[in-house]
Amino acid sequence: MTGAVSPDRRRFLTAGAAVLGAAASAQLWLPSTARAAEVTLPDGVFSLGVASGDPLPDGVVLWTRLAPDPLNGGGMPDGVVPVQWELAEDERFRKPVRRGTAQARPELGHSVHVDVRGLRPGRTYWYRFRTAGQISRTGRTRTAPQGGRLRMALASCQNWQHGYFTPYADMLAQDPDFVLFVGDYIYESSPSATALRRHEGTGEPYSLVQYRNRHAQYRTDPDLAAMHANAPFVVTFDDHEVDNDFAGDIPQDPGKQPHDAFVARLTAAYQAYYEHMPVRASAIPNGPHIQMYRRLEFGRLARLSVLDTRQFRTDQATTPEGANDPARTMLGAEQRQWLVDGLHDSPARWNLVGSQIMMAETDLQVGPGKLWFYDAWDGYQAERNALMDELKHVRNPVVFTGDRHLTMISDLKDDFADPDSAVVGAEFVGTSIAANGDQDQAAFHAEWDPRIPDNPHWKLIDAHRGYHLFDIDRDGIDAQVRIVDTVRQQTSTPSTLARLRVEAGRPGVELV
Ligand SMILES: [Fe+2]
Repeated sequence: MTGAVSPDRRRFLTAGAAVLGAAASAQLWLPSTARAAEVTLPDGVFSLGVASGDPLPDGVVLWTRLAPDPLNGGGMPDGVVPVQWELAEDERFRKPVRRGTAQARPELGHSVHVDVRGLRPGRTYWYRFRTAGQISRTGRTRTAPQGGRLRMALASCQNWQHGYFTPYADMLAQDPDFVLFVGDYIYESSPSATALRRHEGTGEPYSLVQYRNRHAQYRTDPDLAAMHANAPFVVTFDDHEVDNDFAGDIPQDPGKQPHDAFVARLTAAYQAYYEHMPVRASAIPNGPHIQMYRRLEFGRLARLSVLDTRQFRTDQATTPEGANDPARTMLGAEQRQWLVDGLHDSPARWNLVGSQIMMAETDLQVGPGKLWFYDAWDGYQAERNALMDELKHVRNPVVFTGDRHLTMISDLKDDFADPDSAVVGAEFVGTSIAANGDQDQAAFHAEWDPRIPDNPHWKLIDAHRGYHLFDIDRDGIDAQVRIVDTVRQQTSTPSTLARLRVEAGRPGVELV
């Protein structure tokens, strides 16, 4: 594709996703006429790096956001900026597959979301962006495999102020097919003078610009940026992307945030979330609403249902009776039906569920009686227990969770009040990338070990920072709890704390 540029060629290059001939050269991104007409932009427009997400057998979302001054609103001039993108079968772009031009719009923070289709399943691709003479780092991504094996990493809860995101350095080395991130991508807390590294700004974010700055700061963590540039993420949000423990349009502290102000806050938070995440346009928010629950398919091997346990829930209970109130919902009627239908009609060997908050019971009361966290599924027990009933008839259900800042790996029980009731599935609560920092392990065990007899469904509890890694095939899931020795330094030493296995056809999880 060298030589004179015909009008047809120009149209071809600017028409979005365009198929390239096998002999195409990757060196010419645009005809010279178009290049000359490009806008001038400040240096460093690709400071936030690149990302990909929501892999399909034939496609993936490519992401970047132009932000030469990332912690101060982005620093972009107020206009639409064309951004060329390119995807290839090799790192040096000698075998290009798709290229096109996306529009970075100021009303979406100059973010770019390219939904590339027409790719091959289970394949690795490389991609990059270019605008105004600047070229992004090269990203690597992978389409969904349709069978065989799947390697998935589970991550959550990356609190900037509590530590460096060093578990991602080990995750990158483990080379997962994708990363399931189940919430608390940012924390909305105020900057703390005593923090290991300090949040930007002067307080909690409320406005769109403030949420953009907070997201942008997180993306400057080098390990997180590198992980995004090396594997697709499947993300969903929990509470801290907006406000601690919010429920629907009810804030943590209704006395301090009037309803209208909180709706404006939700609107800002969801928009900034969309702008920074590699998700499809179906997730473009509509005011204070964002569509995040969705399914991803990995052929006949696995179906992944990603839940939204924040937007449709009723307010948290405050009493044990309230936690058992059948009127209380975590998912809302529509999402609950969507989940149950999708579990029952699944063609897949494994039915994976991404839930932000823990589904298995946590009885905090040592000895007789029960005490629960009301923000988790324990606060919505009628709906949780009905879901456990459904899981009895679902092929190989496994739930993946965050929120707790602990590793908690459990059998899911038909009835948690009856230790002899059937095991219906397994749950992995995947500690945290950095939230809670380096915990005192002795203090953790002194507090939590006495609760183990009250929670016989627990298989492992632990308080190290890290993530979980899963190798999934037809016969079983091999899980590793990967931990790091510290998040207080910019490098850490990783290790495997434990290995577990979920056997196909046998509900529950066992330590290996
Ligand atoms: Fe968290």
